[in-house]
Amino acid sequence: MTAEPLFDSTEFRQVCGHFPTGVTAVTAITAQGGVAALTVNSFTSVSLQPAKVLFCVTSSSSSFPTLVGSERIAIHILSRDQEDVARRFATSGLTGAEKLAGVSWLPGPDGVPLLPGTPAVLAGRRDEVITSGDHVIFLLDIDHVHLKPTNVPALSFYRGRFVSPSATATE
Ligand SMILES: Cc1cc2nc3c(=O)[nH]c(=O)nc-3n(C[C@H](O)[C@H](O)[C@H](O)COP(=O)(O)O)c2cc1C
Repeated sequence: MTAEPLFDSTEFRQVCGHFPTGVTAVTAITAQGGVAALTVNSFTSVSLQPAKVLFCVTSSSSSFPTLVGSERIAIHILSRDQEDVARRFATSGLTGAEKLAGVSWLPGPDGVPLLPGTPAVLAGRRDEVITSGDHVIFLLDIDHVHLKPTNVPALSFYRGRFVSPSATATE
């Protein structure tokens, strides 16, 4: 049996929020054409060969059933000028189609919605889905990547707020 933690979930969230992250917009499409769209900062790369990434989604999200049934998922690493997309995709109560109706998008591989103007995009197929606590870890096999060089810094999230570095890193 696990001992009760000496902190509550608000404190846990605050502590984790001290880790600055990028911000991604995840889009997905099922074989029946259902679409999901949500903002995710739990993205990380996992494996180089084969190329795999993961992100975590709360199982109470309304996007969750569509994501689980998706054939194709795309991850857009957002820039500072895409904060409106991040806010829209994080809005509860909108369907995936309603979230996408407010942004510019194009159909990508197997029809997955792609957001033009995003500096870095990865698309792939769902691999394993692992339930852990109240979240589900989605592992993806990546088969498409796209880079659009830009001088606009990445959008970041830190201590519960959108923040942006003032300059891009040089390569
Ligand atoms: C910066 C940011 C990062 C987020 N990251 C995640 C995440 O990694 N996993 C998750 O389940 N929700 C995350 N959310 C919350 C979801 O975007 C939001 O709850 C969801 O889109 C609500 O809509 P839905 O219920 O229709 O899915 C994040 C929100 C913001 C603003």
